[in-house]
Amino acid sequence: MRWPAEAIWEAVAPLLPGFTVEVLPQLDSTNTELMRRARTGRADPVLLVAEQQTAGRGRLGRDWHSSAGASLTFSLGLPLAPADWSGLSLAVGASVADSLHPDIVLKWPNDLWLGDRKLGGILIETASFGDGAAGARYAVIGIGLNIAPRPAAGLSIEPAALRELLPQADAAAVLERIARPLVGDLQRFERDGFVAFQQRFAQRDALRGRAVRLSDGTAGTAQGVNAAGSLLVHTAAGPQAISSSEVSVRPAAR
Ligand code: BTN
Repeated sequence: MRWPAEAIWEAVAPLLPGFTVEVLPQLDSTNTELMRRARTGRADPVLLVAEQQTAGRGRLGRDWHSSAGASLTFSLGLPLAPADWSGLSLAVGASVADSLHPDIVLKWPNDLWLGDRKLGGILIETASFGDGAAGARYAVIGIGLNIAPRPAAGLSIEPAALRELLPQADAAAVLERIARPLVGDLQRFERDGFVAFQQRFAQRDALRGRAVRLSDGTAGTAQGVNAAGSLLVHTAAGPQAISSSEVSVRPAAR
């Protein structure tokens, strides 16, 4: 695949001095690699793409499966110093979806869905950076998107693929579409926080109005997301604002 590394660099470098783009044929995981680098003191802004990941990671310690050519797997690493980090994965999801297609919906806290099937996921990790002055950390924003259909591989529901919406899509063109707006949106998040994305998220909120079940067994109805990015759930015990990333939410069957 020919990657538009130069075009992305030209679009992003004016926003992020020192920015580089790196494409590697194979890596364990782009997130793992940038976190490794951060531990050795490297905290420069970089977009790292792996054509193939051998140990892709998802949230909550899950594996993330992808295959060369059929998926886009990359991480953007950059120093960030927002006053409040909450809602970052929601802002990233809104940014990616807005760059790609109006029909993509967002499942709190960090999945991109097509209907009720998963199209992609976001894994955000941070590492300490410099002396931590002004709350700056090195943020590693990992994004995995299914571009072409692939086998369900043990999943109960077949994953969605972007080509269902954009038949011509390939990983390189998708990355070029996402990258610059994503950097701009991250800088906006750093400045203004999640509240600047609340409306954009709400327009794509896959759970709003739906019956959901939390991983602790609580059942309720999802009622949108507040200004801090917490999921509001109406339960038998009253309204709850869910912020813990350790809670997973499943829509109950329709
Ligand atoms: C999830 O759905 O749980 C998040 C999936 C995130 C996958 C991406 S692929 C690029 C980056 N590297 C990884 O190992 N994970 C993220």
